[in-house]
Amino acid sequence: MKRLIFLESSVELVPKEIATHKSIILDSKKRGKNPEEIILDDSKHHAAMRSLANREKRGRPDIIHCCLLLFLDSKASKDFEVYIHTINGEIIWVNNKVRLPRNYNRFLGLIEDLFSKGRIVANGETLLEITNLRLKDLTAKRKVFVFREGEKNLEMLKKLDNDSVVCIGAFPHGDFFPETINSLGNPIFISLGKETYTSLYVTSRFICEYERVRSTEDC
Ligand SMILES: C[S@@+](CC[C@H](N)C(=O)[O-])C[C@H]1O[C@@H](n2cnc3c(N)ncnc32)[C@H](O)[C@@H]1O
Repeated sequence: MKRLIFLESSVELVPKEIATHKSIILDSKKRGKNPEEIILDDSKHHAAMRSLANREKRGRPDIIHCCLLLFLDSKASKDFEVYIHTINGEIIWVNNKVRLPRNYNRFLGLIEDLFSKGRIVANGETLLEITNLRLKDLTAKRKVFVFREGEKNLEMLKKLDNDSVVCIGAFPHGDFFPETINSLGNPIFISLGKETYTSLYVTSRFICEYERVRSTEDC
């Protein structure tokens, strides 16, 4: 089965080094959780995040929330195993039949539960799971396509086959870490052009392009 990986997704628990910051304590008290049990969120923890390394790529779980909602709603999702690769390198498996909460705060609660329990099960079915896999394990011996700014070449998607892996960055600013790209072997870069687009827009263009090519093949 094909795979879709959202790379370096901007989702993580509040890191230790800022867990005692005023804005984090305030938010965690409001939520009735310990500071290190809540998801880092730039819209609430902006002041605390100033000192963090790679700050521009962190604290934006809304990006993966929107991209997952969009992709899991699509017909294309039936053809893909879906994974979240987090900014800290964890690999989360997402059941492609899962109905995620559309409400952002409920989504945050679900992901916090996932980080504390390692797995979310509902009605006997696993919905989300933190795996022991590394990026390398998901991409080894497969054709890997990575969405990235560059010369427009969407037609490369025609080369997608059942063993392919498609990757889209799910962080707000900056480029992929070199170690992420290295883990992907020899990827083919797919581009919508030199301009930078949001992860949500890129996900929507990928879905459209994939469904367009597939429906031509079906005819
Ligand atoms: C918001 S961008 C990442 C940050 C962006 N590089 C910047 O510096 O603002 C999110 C992701 O969308 C994809 N992307 C953005 N623009 C693209 C383009 N023109 N063509 C293909 N993919 C693109 C890449 O996977 C990228 O990691």
